[in-house]
Amino acid sequence: MAESLEGWKRSNNCSELTASDTGSEVTLMGWVQRRRDHGGLIFIDLRDREGLTQVVFNPESDPSSHAKAHSLRSEYVIAVKGNVSRRPEGTVNPNLKTGKIEVIASSLKVLNESKTPPFTIEDDLDTAETLRLRYRYLDLRRPIIQRNIVLRHTVAQKVRSFLNERGFLEIETPMLTKSTPEGARDFLVPSRMNPGSFYALPQSPQLFKQILMVSGFDRYYQIVRCFRDEDLRADRQPEFTQIDIEMSFIDREDIMNLMEEMISDVIHEAKGVRPNRPYPRLTYKEAIDRFGLDAPDVRFGMELTDISDVVKNSSFKVFADPISKGGVAKVINVKNGATMSRAEIDALTEFAKSYGAKGLAWVKVTPEGWQSPIAKFLTEDEIKGINDKSGAEIGDLLLFAADTYRVANTFLGRLRVHLGHKLGLIDKNVFSFVWVTDFPLLEFDEDEKRYVAVHHPFTAPMDEDLESLNTRPEVVRAKAYDLVLNGTEIGGGSIRIHRQDIQSLIFEKLGINTEEAGEKFGFLLEALEFGAPPHGGIAFGLDRLIAILTGSDSIRDVIAFPKTQKGTCLMTDAPSKVGKRQLDELSIKVNVIE
Ligand code: AMO
Ligand code: AMP
Repeated sequence: MAESLEGWKRSNNCSELTASDTGSEVTLMGWVQRRRDHGGLIFIDLRDREGLTQVVFNPESDPSSHAKAHSLRSEYVIAVKGNVSRRPEGTVNPNLKTGKIEVIASSLKVLNESKTPPFTIEDDLDTAETLRLRYRYLDLRRPIIQRNIVLRHTVAQKVRSFLNERGFLEIETPMLTKSTPEGARDFLVPSRMNPGSFYALPQSPQLFKQILMVSGFDRYYQIVRCFRDEDLRADRQPEFTQIDIEMSFIDREDIMNLMEEMISDVIHEAKGVRPNRPYPRLTYKEAIDRFGLDAPDVRFGMELTDISDVVKNSSFKVFADPISKGGVAKVINVKNGATMSRAEIDALTEFAKSYGAKGLAWVKVTPEGWQSPIAKFLTEDEIKGINDKSGAEIGDLLLFAADTYRVANTFLGRLRVHLGHKLGLIDKNVFSFVWVTDFPLLEFDEDEKRYVAVHHPFTAPMDEDLESLNTRPEVVRAKAYDLVLNGTEIGGGSIRIHRQDIQSLIFEKLGINTEEAGEKFGFLLEALEFGAPPHGGIAFGLDRLIAILTGSDSIRDVIAFPKTQKGTCLMTDAPSKVGKRQLDELSIKVNVIE
């Protein structure tokens, strides 16, 4: 039977009592982690979000509470009054903050009972994630998830105080709005009052923050939910949170420096360490050339080496053909990798193929020379050239990519990261930042047969590249920058176009005609004609940042109520069907064959 509080007040949380509190009378409230009956005594580990405290029920000193304590089960909610006492010799628990003391109960209230939970509330859990998400309120009781949510709060508050101290204003922007292109599909919301019309949920506040600069708010931030209907992965959610920032009268260096300072302060607050500054920088081209990816993990070596020069005239067509068509041949040297079995190399080949590779040529460097299915196709000179370029030594494994620039770099880059993890080359305790700059402004989309913006259409081109916009759009670089942490892009931003004529020109290059530009972004183009200051900004993925700081495998572990890979919430069962009446009100007909 559940009892009421009847004026009882909690005096302490479950993690703060120490030996110096011995003798004091306390009132604790929380959940029963565990009950143990031992030599007539009943021991309860009482849990709240701060930690655990051991409570002892003694049949001699308090027979009525002791009798009640018999009925306690895991996850019952209780309130206990009692006296803090030092634990007897030999029963001290050094792993627990409160491990030197226990509370000898003098009174017990059972505030609520609990059904037997479908999994135990503890950190090491071998339970399907679907079950955890179905019972998220129980999952959220687990200390590990609670620590993640607390750290998230700490980071958000640090960001706010850092920016507040520097004159930034937190300003809200609409959730029911018009499409903002960030490269994903929009989530749409039907308008009842405007039948047939839809709002889009923002993919980011990009256009509003730029308009705020036009309005003179000159330093803006918002910790804001963004919505993107895209295929989900461990580091992507359909709704996620950005630390969104915009400033006027600044250039790239100003933003990058200020953001380094902010992120370093955040890491210091959250983890007690300060990353080295300045963060290293790579241009986009350097990142791709050396690491294969635009979000390189620079915590370990095994960089990609271009061997196109050595094999471009080779009779081994697998290498020479892609080069003759403008592609590349590259290699990574897996130090001491020659011990890998055939099955392991086959698994790597499958991995590479999942990123578009046609195959994965390999070489084991042995005291007798190359052991490899491709050795017989290459000349002595070619073998020597490859050995020299890749720094091959006896015992190494060489893995090759020959393909278009994009495919070869992507799959070898992915393979490098995969091997870095598999071979334990990555120090998980470091925070390794790198800025990636000088992205191309545009890239040609083969499916759509037009140029698309690499960052977004409001990013400014480099001044010195402007004249190539008409002749060779693909060589124009953007005033854009991404911040990469341990191989994950945690933030990205740019200096924006603040001149209406250049913005119109970029729309034109993106195949957006004047009419369409007017319809979609007319308000922006118009605003740019009323004294828009030079401005730029950045947005960080808060979920991704917290996932890295907490060592979580998935951003789902740092979001209180996340969605599955299929975009569903297993606790509330969203999304769900709606009734005909509601659809009629919205003038919507659903065309789904069940
Ligand atoms: P961008 O699209 O690069 O830039 O997004 C900024 C950061 O948000 C995070 N992120 C995500 N996190 C979780 N789930 C997702 N689906 C997801 N998509 C993105 C990433 C990314 O670096 N308006 C621009 C910013 C600007 O130019 O100021 C923007 O949204 O960590
Ligand atoms: P093949 O002549 O197609 O049997 O290929 C010979 C070797 O080269 C095999 O080990 C293939 O896995 C590998 N290979 C094939 N295509 C590529 C490629 N594009 N890049 C790297 N290795 C390849």
